[in-house]
Amino acid sequence: MSRDRTSVRIQQWVRPEIRALQPYASPPGVGLRKLDAMESPYGWPPELIERWLDKLRGAELNRYPDPQAPGLKDALRREMGLAPEQDLLLGNGSDEIIQMLALLVAGRGRCMMAPEPGFVMYRMVATLAGLDYVGVRLDAQFDLDVDATLAAIQTHQPALLFMALPNNPTGNLFSVERVRAVIEACEGLVVLDEAYTAFTDSDHLGFAQDYDNVLVLRTFSKVGLAGLRLGLLLGDPAWLTELEKVRLPYNINLLTQLSAEFALENFQIIRQQTAAIRSERERLHSELLSIPQLHVWPSEANFVLTRTPPGRASEVFEALKQAGLLVRLLDGSHPALTDCLRITIGEPADSDRLVATLRQLFATG
Ligand SMILES: Cc1ncc(COP(=O)(O)O)c(C=O)c1O
Repeated sequence: MSRDRTSVRIQQWVRPEIRALQPYASPPGVGLRKLDAMESPYGWPPELIERWLDKLRGAELNRYPDPQAPGLKDALRREMGLAPEQDLLLGNGSDEIIQMLALLVAGRGRCMMAPEPGFVMYRMVATLAGLDYVGVRLDAQFDLDVDATLAAIQTHQPALLFMALPNNPTGNLFSVERVRAVIEACEGLVVLDEAYTAFTDSDHLGFAQDYDNVLVLRTFSKVGLAGLRLGLLLGDPAWLTELEKVRLPYNINLLTQLSAEFALENFQIIRQQTAAIRSERERLHSELLSIPQLHVWPSEANFVLTRTPPGRASEVFEALKQAGLLVRLLDGSHPALTDCLRITIGEPADSDRLVATLRQLFATG
């Protein structure tokens, strides 16, 4: 096989917009405390793991899973207190649901829109699906810029608009009245992405009842179950029936179905862990605020965004790495994120090490 011929074939057949992309990369973090990917630092106690393994023992891996996952869906409805007129659709992570939504509306000249800085997969999925992507810049407080967003909606008429509430990577919620104004201006489908809903008191499920163009997206990933890959979309059954045609039939594997059911039967542990992460977030936030060289934004999620003095984000990132902590370097990823780092909330000992490292770094210059 000749390398040259392969590369000619790739040039000829792979779509140019795919060739221009970089694959999604997550740094391995070997030997480091991973504070870069909004995972929970907590696993399950050994007794719970034993009971979970007992449940998996009966799994019939020779059979396809039930494509509708009825047991899991019922358990989810109960846990979330979902209204009878609302339905849910499951995805292999909420990433997969974002992709299904893009495929649902994709077509020549169609547009997907999202505020920026925001979750990077929106742009990537739009490109994969052949949608035009328009990012609308947030205001200086990282809230929606209503005038700019309404103007962009008017110009581009998005088929699909995402708002993450709280937003990643800024950690804040957008003002409710601004969210409402954007929903009302948009003729297309609006998806409220509540990936971080466990870490805030506000929820936006009511919008999916009030407006016929709104769906709500959630995930198990941020509450200690990132390895399961389970996302859910909530809203009007008429939209979800259309999406069912896009969904690959066995997208939720049997082990995920059984494990998620088990997690829901034991959800108190997840609630306790989430509460611990929320209180650790407040502690870390105030510790970081006490370091005068840093700007720290308030957060309603399981991470905090911070800005270092000009030009020092990489140095801070490396110093934290030397101290055994992997955070996310955002400098250079968007003009509004110059000098910024995003720190996922870990265990209290992680915060202590982080704060001590930063204090030492800034004390010495
Ligand atoms: C806003 C937002 N939505 C969706 C996701 C994807 O989550 P998952 O595919 O793990 O469910 C993330 C992950 O970081 C996110 O930040």
